[in-house]
Amino acid sequence: MSSNPDLKDMPGYLEPMSEAAEQQYAGDDEAMHIGSIPRITVQGFCLTEATMQVAEAAMEDRRMAKAHLKVEMGGIPGAIQTFEQAPTPNLIIVETSGQRDDLVSGLDRLAEFCDAGTKVIVIGDVNDVTLYRDLISRGVSEYLIAPVSVFQLIGSIGNLYNDPEAEPLGRTIAFFGVKGGCGSSTVAHNGAWALARGFQSEVAVADLDLPFGTAGLDYNQDPLQGVFDAVSAPERLDETYLDRILSKCNDHLSLLAAPATLERTYDHSEKTFELLLETMRSSTPHVVLDVPHAWNAWVKHTLESVDEVVLVAEPDLANLRNAKNTVDMLKQLRPNDRLPHLVLNKVNVPKRPEIKPEEFAGALGLKVQAAVPFEPQLFGTAANNGQMIGELDGKHAITGMFEDLAQSISGKVQPTKAARPSLSALLSKLKRKAG
Ligand SMILES: Nc1ncnc2c1ncn2[C@@H]1O[C@H](COP(=O)(O)OP(=O)(O)O)[C@@H](O)[C@H]1O
Ligand SMILES: [Mg+2]
Repeated sequence: MSSNPDLKDMPGYLEPMSEAAEQQYAGDDEAMHIGSIPRITVQGFCLTEATMQVAEAAMEDRRMAKAHLKVEMGGIPGAIQTFEQAPTPNLIIVETSGQRDDLVSGLDRLAEFCDAGTKVIVIGDVNDVTLYRDLISRGVSEYLIAPVSVFQLIGSIGNLYNDPEAEPLGRTIAFFGVKGGCGSSTVAHNGAWALARGFQSEVAVADLDLPFGTAGLDYNQDPLQGVFDAVSAPERLDETYLDRILSKCNDHLSLLAAPATLERTYDHSEKTFELLLETMRSSTPHVVLDVPHAWNAWVKHTLESVDEVVLVAEPDLANLRNAKNTVDMLKQLRPNDRLPHLVLNKVNVPKRPEIKPEEFAGALGLKVQAAVPFEPQLFGTAANNGQMIGELDGKHAITGMFEDLAQSISGKVQPTKAARPSLSALLSKLKRKAG
């Protein structure tokens, strides 16, 4: 077929599809039914150029626009090497080649480094039902047989995350100050930032302090829309609308800012934020709520319904009384949940008599998650610049405290800083010694 040269010069002319591409897209009715993939992180480790190309094409697909997909070569060994020292994403895709035993032992090793909640899709070249069943029973979410098409790949990711029966993707974490001004918002914003940076996981922050919230200031964002728009018209609130009004602070962090205006009053009902939280958690792995210091039906209901609560307090008597009441109330509201995390903030104010963090926590039956010192210069500069402490001084001890806080609210296991020998490496050493 000779192509018409005039046509080619026309703007908007599209090259005819290559045969391979045509095959890939042709007749893929399935593609029509794949919804957009939520805000997950995916890391792929391919073995063949062909799979690599498919993964790269998937990355460009509109349905993957919200997801973060990184692909490289390396297969299972590559994945193990990477995750020995780094937290795992929501989904790992590994390409494998060859027979059952190698595959299974490789996956077992990889599993040692997987955080709870990480899913695995395997692409392999062995078409064998027993192998398939074996992998699924070991917790692999899907086994695809190479060569895979772009839509097979996106479709199987979609099946994992768009299933209405599946557990919601996101964890909700509420930060609550037991006394006004104790620094709950500051701790929430820095904690969320550390979570997004350290764990390469998507985090969405909602500032629920509609009249006075400072998340926009702290993240240096001035969006036109935000949390008020999300809750004022529940009939149009869905993932698509949410995507439009979330403002992107950086690669992994987005924000629903408070209007922070006083023209109207904000008299929320008990369930005002319920739909918003459900919508946020269905598309984002971590949802951080900056809850204002107040006690009313919606605050109580929000603290009751989230996955994790972080209490922030200053080390004095009034804070202790309020913290005690809050902890007692939370135990009553959520008897089967983990106890709240406790952050003591503004510790060591010069000349101020203070309760020691350990005593404060002990009186509540909690452990001290962090005791953040009073550092007015550092926090004042950060607030004035619209920066996080980690941006101002990545090496500061307080930056490390927010990283540790992020770690414990992430639901992930401790990422190993130094390369740790794998269990099987240790076992083989033992065997060698014994032998
Ligand atoms: N550890 C700290 N040292 C000094 N100042 C702090 C510290 N933590 C917070 N601040 C400052 O305290 C003020 C109140 O913080 P904010 O986070 O708005 O409190 P809350 O949300 O509990 O009302 C802000 O000016 C903030 O910069
Ligand atoms: Mg606040």
